[in-house]
Amino acid sequence: MTEKLEIQLRLPNLEEGKPVHELIQRCPPLDVNSSYNYFLLCSHFRDTCVVAEANDRIVGFLSAYLIPGRAETLFVWQVAVDEAARGHGLAGRMLEHVMARPFCADVHTLETTISPSNLPSRRVFQHYAEKVGAQSSEETFIEVHHFGGEAHEEERLIRIGPWK
Ligand SMILES: CC(C)(COP(=O)(O)OP(=O)(O)OC[C@H]1O[C@@H](n2cnc3c(N)ncnc32)[C@H](O)[C@@H]1OP(=O)(O)O)[C@@H](O)C(=O)NCCC(=O)NCCS
Repeated sequence: MTEKLEIQLRLPNLEEGKPVHELIQRCPPLDVNSSYNYFLLCSHFRDTCVVAEANDRIVGFLSAYLIPGRAETLFVWQVAVDEAARGHGLAGRMLEHVMARPFCADVHTLETTISPSNLPSRRVFQHYAEKVGAQSSEETFIEVHHFGGEAHEEERLIRIGPWK
């Protein structure tokens, strides 16, 4: 793929919940939530979600929301890029795209969680912090014992910002 010019970034639409759900299924180690969850993200939360489309196919998705009561902090939930499109900075482009929307004009801090073994995800957020020239910090958030018996790595909270 020669992605950079051919991939369009935009708001999702409700009917894209299903193809987004399918993309998430193609992107381990992401937790696969129900299709219903992705219909909600693609409708109620569309202002803070991004679809990346190439040749009428969804090749990337970023889900995020403004933290209730902390509207200046965008929590980035899942970032997924189809395997064939990886390694070209598409995840970072989706981050920059959502931050540039008028809906996010007041956002000065990004939070996300990363499981310790997910180096590509960590790199995406490191690159973003460098790009906006912001400090980043890391703390304990969802610990292994919170998941009960479920086999799940801890989710560490990464905070980038404030950058303004
Ligand atoms: C994490 C993910 C979203 C990154 O997307 P991306 O558009 O490829 O991001 P980048 O191009 O900035 O690459 C980020 C890192 O991925 C790694 N990478 C590069 N090419 C890669 C490839 N072809 N395949 C896998 N990882 C690759 C590198 O470590 C890179 O860091 P570097 O630029 O410092 O070398 C993507 O790998 C993905 O969808 N992974 C599965 C789902 C997931 O783990 N999501 C993140 C948790 S929310």
